[in-house]
Amino acid sequence: MHIGVLGTGTVGRTLAQALVDRGHEVRMGARVAGNEKAVEWAGAGGPLASEGSFADAAAFAELVINATAGAASLEALEMAGAEQLAGKVLIDVANPLDMSKGMPPTLTVCNDDSLGESIQRAFADVRVVKTLNTVTASVMVAPQLVPGQHTIFVCGDDDVAKATARRLLEEFGWPSEAILDLGDITAARGVEMYLALWLRLWGATGSGVLNIGVRTPES
Ligand SMILES: NC(=O)c1ccc[n+]([C@@H]2O[C@H](COP(=O)([O-])OP(=O)(O)OC[C@H]3O[C@@H](n4cnc5c(N)ncnc54)[C@H](OP(=O)(O)O)[C@@H]3O)[C@@H](O)[C@H]2O)c1
Repeated sequence: MHIGVLGTGTVGRTLAQALVDRGHEVRMGARVAGNEKAVEWAGAGGPLASEGSFADAAAFAELVINATAGAASLEALEMAGAEQLAGKVLIDVANPLDMSKGMPPTLTVCNDDSLGESIQRAFADVRVVKTLNTVTASVMVAPQLVPGQHTIFVCGDDDVAKATARRLLEEFGWPSEAILDLGDITAARGVEMYLALWLRLWGATGSGVLNIGVRTPES
């Protein structure tokens, strides 16, 4: 697939490389083409890797990944351009963290709304799937780093888009039974607000390479 990864941070570079390693053509996007981190990644990433602006990456892509700072994601997606994103699956891995008052961060949107929903509202014909935001970058693409059975959540309004996201998760090594569909995009509230707990789990265990597993008597 042609995949546009919006974001040059740890998550963008980790996902972009994992996708290239699995044979996808990836264009990494930044506010401006020629971003230092994106150029470095594309230079080392091989023939399937390229870089450009958010708009370049979105135009190139069949599927887009939002790996931008959550507080700025709407701005970044505006720069990508509604016409470039229209009709496409957008995998949103961002968390709307507000670091302006230091640690721990708060959320710029929560309770009865979420970043995932805000994106879906602002770009009504984009097929938004929220996933992977509940694990650190290395675990996103290598779930086996966390031993045992553990869970990755997906949510979104479009079932076909969620099936596409599920296939990518499986390419990253998430077993089918680890992928838990929480329903429509309003479930993004829960997985984004989980960040408050994730940060405390990180502090309590001393490791960001962690995840939770959901169990029922049937599972
Ligand atoms: N770090 C993790 O392990 C982890 C795990 C789960 C979820 N997440 C979420 O994944 C996302 C990416 O995280 P990250 O740590 O890789 O990177 P990040 O530092 O949170 O975000 C970097 C990206 O955001 C863009 N950006 C920043 N301010 C912007 C603005 N005002 N307007 C437009 N774009 C702006 C940057 O653009 P330029 O490239 O132009 O500088 C860059 O591409 C975040 O939402 C984070 O909460 C992170």
